Amino acid sequence: MSKQNLSLRLGVLISGSGSNLQAIIEANESQQLPGVEIALVVSNKADAYGLQRALKHRLPAIYLPWGQPTVGAQFIAPKPEMSESESRLATLLHLFQIDLIVLAGWMRILSAAFLEQFPQHIINIHPALLPDNGTGSTFTTRNGTQIPAFRGLHAVQQALDAGVKITGSCVHFVTPEVDAGPVICREEVAIEEGDTEETLHERLKVVEHRLIVKAVGGLKVLNEPG
Ligand code: GRF
Repeated sequence: MSKQNLSLRLGVLISGSGSNLQAIIEANESQQLPGVEIALVVSNKADAYGLQRALKHRLPAIYLPWGQPTVGAQFIAPKPEMSESESRLATLLHLFQIDLIVLAGWMRILSAAFLEQFPQHIINIHPALLPDNGTGSTFTTRNGTQIPAFRGLHAVQQALDAGVKITGSCVHFVTPEVDAGPVICREEVAIEEGDTEETLHERLKVVEHRLIVKAVGGLKVLNEPG
């Protein structure tokens, strides 16, 4: 965290629409996140709409080409050491004195070596319910129903395919195992009859926009001098 603990400088990493970035921007502009500054937005895609959102609000934003491929629904696990793209990203994040990295729809897996550079300082938004400590293969909803913990790509579709009645979103710390870090906050969302991946994801995003602001605000308070 920053030396004087006066502000929390966010680095927001995106790959697409950036609606969660927008939620942070709006919360910030309406003074809901005092002391929080969006210091840098990074996208691994040049045409990510989130970059336009950042530029519209005059935030420092950069496109950082990234080579990590995916196969079908599976990410190819990164090597343990940092890739060239990761080294560039780490340099940028240090240069901009980033305190907290927010993966807001960032679709690339980060290596253990990269994560070690920012221990406990990277959070992710995931469109499914994960157990408290992040690990474990099931989650128990508030009404006592046990559902699988859907991880990785297409978590929204995975919930639909499994036929569960409740899903949700959460914000969690990032650890080397994908979507398996300690949960900061979560909200359940009921699956409605006729829901498609798109309609359900839209409702999940409404929840996420609240969750990410809550998580960042909470971590800012934790970062304040006692
Ligand atoms: C969100 O649903 C988040 O859970 C997932 O990627 C999506 C990003 O959406 N990791 P947006 O780019 O913030 O609109």
